[in-house]
Amino acid sequence: MADKPERWRRAWVIGASSGIGRETALKLAPLCGEVIVSARSAGKLQELESLADNITSIPLDVTDAASVKTAAKKIGVGSNCPDLVLISSGLWKQVRIPGLDPADFKASMDVNFNGVIEVLSAVLPPMADRQSGHVAIFASVAGYRGLPNSAAYSPTKAALINLAESIKPQLDAMGVTISVVNPGFVDTPMTSVNKFPMPFLMEPEEAAEIIVDGLHKRKYEIAFPRRLAWPLKFTRAMPNAVYFWLVRKLVLRK
Ligand SMILES: NC(=O)c1ccc[n+]([C@@H]2O[C@H](COP(=O)([O-])OP(=O)(O)OC[C@H]3O[C@@H](n4cnc5c(N)ncnc54)[C@H](OP(=O)(O)O)[C@@H]3O)[C@@H](O)[C@H]2O)c1
Repeated sequence: MADKPERWRRAWVIGASSGIGRETALKLAPLCGEVIVSARSAGKLQELESLADNITSIPLDVTDAASVKTAAKKIGVGSNCPDLVLISSGLWKQVRIPGLDPADFKASMDVNFNGVIEVLSAVLPPMADRQSGHVAIFASVAGYRGLPNSAAYSPTKAALINLAESIKPQLDAMGVTISVVNPGFVDTPMTSVNKFPMPFLMEPEEAAEIIVDGLHKRKYEIAFPRRLAWPLKFTRAMPNAVYFWLVRKLVLRK
């Protein structure tokens, strides 16, 4: 862990009403002047607000452009932009082929990808003007390659990983830092519905600690746990025939 915690002036955590976002907001509270927490569930955000003096809740829906703009205005993004913005909002829907429902795919893309774009469109211009700031977008190790039953989710996370790669060089030139957070399995409301084995399942507190440490170090990619993230990352370089053979053997076996 970093010896001397850097203090952020204002952090904005979106997707903070549960899971990894909530734990990360709590870890950030002692390290920041102010932590603004957002998601749709106003009641859960208020409960979070009651846990530290410097947490303020501002509900929003990332799939609603007007809602994001209103929240950004309340926060004063234009004149007093948070120096750290975490976009942890996400939706996981397991899909089985062949009965694909387009609504599952649209909902996943709306929250996981387009929702991130809505927030970036609000915070990047003021960060670029000030030539400082740090945004972290939450993708997943599921974005490294397509995974069975994850056809609505994995592509949204692959898109985020690609998005971060696409914009990083220009953000660097503007003095703005971008991180992409790629967790493995973390025990949260999102994964509590899963019936399949989740190797190396972590507690959200541990995930939050790794994330905050990575943010301190201004890491571009914060991927964990290593024993899951690295092998999955390695599959990106694997010939397709080998990858599909492995999926059949390890994931689709009955
Ligand atoms: N848990 C894992 O194993 C895992 C692994 C890899 C990646 N991730 C990623 O990590 C992030 C956090 O996941 P988690 O496990 O902590 O899930 P979670 O507990 O389900 O939290 C998801 C958060 O997103 C918010 N959210 C959902 N839809 C929203 C919307 N339309 N507008 C605003 N906020 C919205 C939820 O709040 P409301 O419902 O109150 O809006 C909640 O705060 C997600 O991006 C997820 O894909 C998780």
